[in-house]
Amino acid sequence: MLECRQINTFYGPAHVLFDIDIDVEQGQMVCLIGRNGVGKSTTLKSIMGLAPPTSGSVRFEGRDITRLPPHRIAQAGIGYVPEDRRVFADLTVEENLEVAERGGAPWNLPAVFELFPPLLEFRHRRGGLLSGGQQQMLTIARTLVGNPRLLLIDEPTEGLSPIVVKTLEGMIRSLKEKGQTMLLAAQDLRFSLSVADSIYVLDHGRVIYHAPRDQAQAESDRIRSMLSV
Ligand SMILES: Nc1ncnc2c1ncn2[C@@H]1O[C@H](COP(=O)(O)OP(=O)(O)OP(=O)(O)O)[C@@H](O)[C@H]1O
Ligand SMILES: [Mg+2]
Repeated sequence: MLECRQINTFYGPAHVLFDIDIDVEQGQMVCLIGRNGVGKSTTLKSIMGLAPPTSGSVRFEGRDITRLPPHRIAQAGIGYVPEDRRVFADLTVEENLEVAERGGAPWNLPAVFELFPPLLEFRHRRGGLLSGGQQQMLTIARTLVGNPRLLLIDEPTEGLSPIVVKTLEGMIRSLKEKGQTMLLAAQDLRFSLSVADSIYVLDHGRVIYHAPRDQAQAESDRIRSMLSV
């Protein structure tokens, strides 16, 4: 469904991504893991057209989207949840969702309320008054109601308390069980190994490891050492 080939991305003169190859198949959840600053967010931004690659290609459902502007990439069917949980602070939860709703299946308001019960409970509360975890749920829900065929999520549990992390991880797991195709950037190996169909490890802007889940589980010590150096 998504094929990234030999992506190289720069911020001004700084070369940040080197020959990145990533594949996501329909229905899969793929995790991109790595320490701080290795290029996880930049990879997602490169796919989304927010940090367009200087060379290489991104194909989505067979179509070359490499040089498209972000809004066209969104229209093509890719949803993006950035790391900085931006919700409309003055709109209620329900209004935040309504402005993003695009119709279509399977994600509408009742479906995201079922996935994220706190959003139903607080549907009349303004976005700015939600907790960090609830804001993250709202950010994901808002992207989902656009019914993207591929969802990119950048470090959804970053900065949340352990109990909230557990809750959100469970919700992301149900999202996968409902068949949503996802590419998720994360620092947490444990969760990635438990849920991902395939795992990529980034270091200094390069893919230094890639394996399907079974193999990655068997080689978890090796992956852990890649993340701790
Ligand atoms: N807008 C920018 N301008 C210049 N350099 C940037 C910019 N954004 C990120 N970088 C640099 O690019 C490299 C990769 O950053 P990126 O944010 O993609 O890493 P990351 O893996 O997402 O890290 P984190 O875990 O901290 O979110 C880092 O060296 C970072 O300092
Ligand atoms: Mg990041």
